Amino acid sequence: MAAFKKLIFATGNEGKMEEIRQILSGIDAQILSMKEAGIEKEVAENGTTFEENALQKAFGIAEEVKEKDAVVLADDSGLEIDYLGKEPGIYSARYLGRDTPYSVKNQNLLDRLEGVPRQQRTARFVCAIAAVFPDGTSCVVRETMEGYIGWEIVGEHGFGYDPIFCLDGYECTTAQLDPEVKNQLSHRGKALRAMRDQLMQR
Ligand code: IMP
Repeated sequence: MAAFKKLIFATGNEGKMEEIRQILSGIDAQILSMKEAGIEKEVAENGTTFEENALQKAFGIAEEVKEKDAVVLADDSGLEIDYLGKEPGIYSARYLGRDTPYSVKNQNLLDRLEGVPRQQRTARFVCAIAAVFPDGTSCVVRETMEGYIGWEIVGEHGFGYDPIFCLDGYECTTAQLDPEVKNQLSHRGKALRAMRDQLMQR
């Protein structure tokens, strides 16, 4: 029997919460966003890896949780481009400024890869999810979706860097994929399923 009754996910993003509720639905616990749990807090992310940032966020939010039966989950994700030394990486949201439109960020990355052949355009989306348990212990999972950076901005679905990220084996961008298909294959979906397996063992 699990030693927790609530899962609080450190996000204010409703799209993410929907995916989280779907994938974690088999777990016998109430799934709440931070807002639903009545928590408002910005946690500084100054780690050097996705895993560190996810853990920092989860521990930062866990400090605010009064209940003794709640697990706090937090994620961190981004795009790594091998040719650019894994940039933008943990700075994906902040790359060229948080408020800069993705049309500009994406075009900038394409320009930085001008003339670079297909074999050297490899890239991946990464997602780390951390959990902090009521007894203060923690765990973290990390999953990826592998692909390469295309040559132009294409596709209407998704968000962020989706219009320049081509998925291995699909030869189109993740912005051209049906969102349901992307969720099946995505770094976040995989990490959520890996975390579900961890939670099931508690
Ligand atoms: P966060 O983990 O929500 O802070 O996301 C970090 C940033 O990584 C986002 O703002 C996007 O720039 C990028 N990112 C993460 N996942 C995806 C994805 O599935 N598609 C496109 N961009 C993504």
